[in-house]
Formats: sequence, structure tokens, C-alpha cells
Amino acid sequence: MFFFNRKTSLHTDFSAIGVDMHSHLIPGVDDGAQDVEESIELINGLRELGYTHLFTTPHTLEDFHPNTKESLQNGHALLEGHIPAGINLNLSSEYYLDEAFLVQLDANALMPLPGNRLLFEFSQIVRPNNLEEVIFDLTVRGYQPVLAHPERYLFFHKQFDYFKRIKDMGVELQVNALSLTEHYGKGVNAVAEKLIEKDMIDFIGTDIHHAKHLEVLKRVPGKKHFARLLDSGLLKNQSLI
Ligand SMILES: [Fe+2]
Repeated sequence: MFFFNRKTSLHTDFSAIGVDMHSHLIPGVDDGAQDVEESIELINGLRELGYTHLFTTPHTLEDFHPNTKESLQNGHALLEGHIPAGINLNLSSEYYLDEAFLVQLDANALMPLPGNRLLFEFSQIVRPNNLEEVIFDLTVRGYQPVLAHPERYLFFHKQFDYFKRIKDMGVELQVNALSLTEHYGKGVNAVAEKLIEKDMIDFIGTDIHHAKHLEVLKRVPGKKHFARLLDSGLLKNQSLI
């Protein structure tokens, strides 16, 4: 059991993290910001929360958001000249493990984060049959896989040890800041807290899609598990810059 000691410092914003590596800020390419105005609203909101570096990660998901490096770069270009002072915006993607992903992987057409890190996700309902095969393939090809929001895959809730298994396979885990509240429900919140207590989290990301998320994010720095995560010394967000 984990007890918070008196030295645990509570935070008022995200400035101790400074670098976000999961968001949906590119206009019109997925279910995040829909136009330039909304993108800038979200970017300004993140700046006010204490962020200075944003690696934005629109979905690449064949069935709903069939993006390519080119479509994302075109969307990114629309923001040129609009980025607020004090913010550094870079582009990557959140890759859904589907057939199109494997095609882009083979074509060397992916856009990883610094350190050749690939943010990936999959179905929240069933574990993909080829998950371990794909993880192995990615690492053999020199990528560092980062699993987006492990706490949100409901089938993992009853097989917590599986997190350890994929970490042992070389996968880094990225918790959503929103999961430190009950935004996605109590179960997701509990698993996020447990992952933090077991020192299994490598990155924290906002996964911001719209302005309502900004309001929830404001409550996160005051959470005990946010302080616990920062105090762990394990977060790698700042290693991206
Ligand atoms: Fe996301």
C-alpha cells in the first residue's frame, strides 16, 4: 500500500512537466480541433496550464481518420504564423494498430516522436491478436513503442500483470492526465492511480481533443497522484526536447 508522506508537494499547473506528447491540435484531420481558431484556443489553453513544448499526435486510424504523413503535414502547415509566442509545436501521430499502420510501417512512412518513439493505441474492447508480434516487430525495426493511455483498455483492468509483460517487452506507458480525475470513469481512474503507485508510467499526456478537456485538466495538478508521478523521477516527457 502506498502512503503519501508529508513532503509530497502539490502542484498548481503543468509547468513542472512542460512537455506534452499526446494531443489532437491539428485542424480538421481527426476528432480533435476542427479549424485553426479551435487549434489556437487549445494551444493557448495548454500554454496557460504551463506547457511550453507540444508534440501533437493526431489519430492515424484507417476506418475513421485515414491520415498519412502528408495529410498531417498539410494540416500542420495551416497553423504556420498562428502559433502563440512561448509555444513550440511539433508534429507526430497516435497510430492505431490496423492494416494501414502495417503498410505505413513497411513503407517507412511513419512520423515518430524524438527518440524514434511511436505512440500507439488499439481497440478498447478486445486485445489485438497480433499485439505482441507487432511490438516485437517495432522494436526490431528500431522504434521505441509507447502505449497511449494503458488505463483506458477495459480488458486490461482484470489482467493488470499484462502491463508488466508488455513493459518487459520494451513498451513505455503513457498515462492520460485526464485519467487522474474520473473523467473517463472510476475504473479508469483507479487503474491510472495503480500504474502510478507501481512506478510503471513513463510519460503523461493531455490527449486533449476540445476545450472542455481544458477545464478538466485544470483540476489535475492538484491531485496527489500527479505529485506522486512527478516525485517518482521516472517521467521522460522532458527527454523529448
Ligand atoms: Fe489520443
